[in-house]
Order: sequence, then C-alpha cells, then structure tokens
Amino acid sequence: MNTVRFTLNRPKALNALSSPLFRELNDALTRFEEDKGTGAIVITGSEKAFAAGADIKEMAPLTFSDAYTNNFIAPWSYLTTLRTPIIAAVSGYALGGGCELALMCDMIYCTSSATFGQPEIRLGIIPGAGGSQRLTAAVGKSKAMELILTGHNFSGKEAGDWGVAAQVFDGSHDDCLNGALETATKIAGFSRVAVTAAKEVVNKSQDLSLREGVEFERRVFHGLFGSKDQKIGMNAFAKKEKAQWTNE
Ligand code: HXC
Repeated sequence: MNTVRFTLNRPKALNALSSPLFRELNDALTRFEEDKGTGAIVITGSEKAFAAGADIKEMAPLTFSDAYTNNFIAPWSYLTTLRTPIIAAVSGYALGGGCELALMCDMIYCTSSATFGQPEIRLGIIPGAGGSQRLTAAVGKSKAMELILTGHNFSGKEAGDWGVAAQVFDGSHDDCLNGALETATKIAGFSRVAVTAAKEVVNKSQDLSLREGVEFERRVFHGLFGSKDQKIGMNAFAKKEKAQWTNE
C-alpha cells in the first residue's frame, strides 16, 4: 500500500487555512481515501509554518448569520471521518486552526522548536475546530484551560512532554517529515483490515465509557477472525515467514 503526502502551500500567508484551501484538501483526501492503494497519509507544511491558523482576513468580515447558516468550519473536520491513518508532521507555527488541524490527525510528529497554541482569545474568539475538546483530551483540563484562556504558545518539546505529539525531532523539518513518512510507510505495510480496525477502536476510546469501549474493542477483535489476513498473519508467524497481506 502507498503512503501519500499532502503539503500545505500558502507560503505568503504562513499556510493560513481558508475555505478554498480546505475544499482543495478535502477533494484530494477523498480521492486518496477512495483509492484502495492508499495505506497512510502524512499532512505537513513548511519549515516556517504548518499553519498559522484560520485565515484571519477571511474571517474578519463574517457575521453571526453567515457563520451559522453556512456552518462555517464544519467541513474542516472532514478528515476525522477518514479510515486511512493520518500523521501530521509539524514544524514552525501550528496556531489556532493549525493546532486544531494537527490535533484532528491520528498522531502528531513535530520538531522540538515547533510553536503550537490556541491564540484565539487574543482575537476575541475561541477555538472553533475542536481545539477546546481535543487539546483538553490530550493535556487535561487544567493545562488546556490555561493555554486557551491565556493564548500562550507551547513548544514542540512541550507537546512531546505533554503527550500531544507522539514523536519530537531535535533536527530540521526534513528530519520530522522523514520520520513521519517512515512511520506512515510502516503502517501502510500492515494488513489494511487490521489497521482500519485498530484506528476505529482507538478513536472510540475518545467517545465511549471504558466499559463500552472495551466491549466495542472485543466485538471488533472477534470480527477479525473472519478476515483472511488473520489466518495469513498467524500462519506466517508459525512458519517463520513474512506475511503477504491480502487486505481481506
Ligand atoms: C491570515 C496570516 C495569518 C492568519 C499570518 N498571516 N498568519 N494571514 N491569517 N492566521 C500572514 C500575515 O498577515 C502576513 O501577511 C504573512 O502571513 C506573514 O506573517 P507575519 O505576521 O509578517 O510573520 P511573522 O512576523 O513571522 O509572525 C508570524 C506569526 C504571526 C507569529 C505566526 O503571523 C501571527 O501571529 N499570525 C496569526 C496567528 C493567529 O492568531 N492564529 C490564529 C488565527 S484564529 P502580509 O500580507 O502582511 O505579508 C484561528 C481560529 C480557529 O485560527 C477557529 C476555527 C478554525
């Protein structure tokens, strides 16, 4: 299975996230999600910015009725509905909507010098793309409250220390991107059936109680004994061979 990389590329605006950018990103994500050959996706930006937030110039003239009736921001979370694993490779600024976009991905790899934050309070608004929920789930209520109420930034190193990021790279953007691509390639090399199930059960832990989550996991686990790849994986282990997955 292939690994696909998406690079946010609005350098003049530090990759500020606009509605046209999300239309383009969502169309491309749909194409690759539907392509049965895509095993994992990496979303990245540049050395200077993953994304410096929602496009403030696009938002400035919005009225309540525009935002409400057009359900402004709703299409931004489309990527959370995808079944293909997605890694964010973050260098530079990941502020506001940029931090929220990274948090929507299945895992974050970042440079230690990356700058995360939810600075919306400084603009007279609040996080609107899930930051108050996903950041709180990652760092706990007290730290999330402090970050969101003060608008203080936090570093990539802190993101690693607090469990926001899965891996932190002391080197350059390329080191971080290569690390993310390596992990994506590894994931894309496993059975698609098992990878899809693993992503689904981990995500359920965010929505269900422990008891419901464990029961859900067990049902999905039982279901995998109906897959060809379970037989292939276990027989290959017994024969000391490399499994040749069918993704069935
Ligand atoms: C629109 C932006 C932008 C943004 C930067 N730019 N961030 N344009 N929306 N979020 C533009 C600047 O206007 C400028 O354009 C160019 O990018 C370079 O930015 P500078 O400010 O000159 O760069 P620098 O001095 O290096 O400062 C970098 C920065 C600063 C610290 C990241 O740009 C900044 O504070 N940006 C805003 C960060 C922010 O508040 N993000 C949250 C947005 S609200 P020109 O044309 O002047 O060269 C949000 C809400 C989410 O995300 C809720 C729903 C999704």
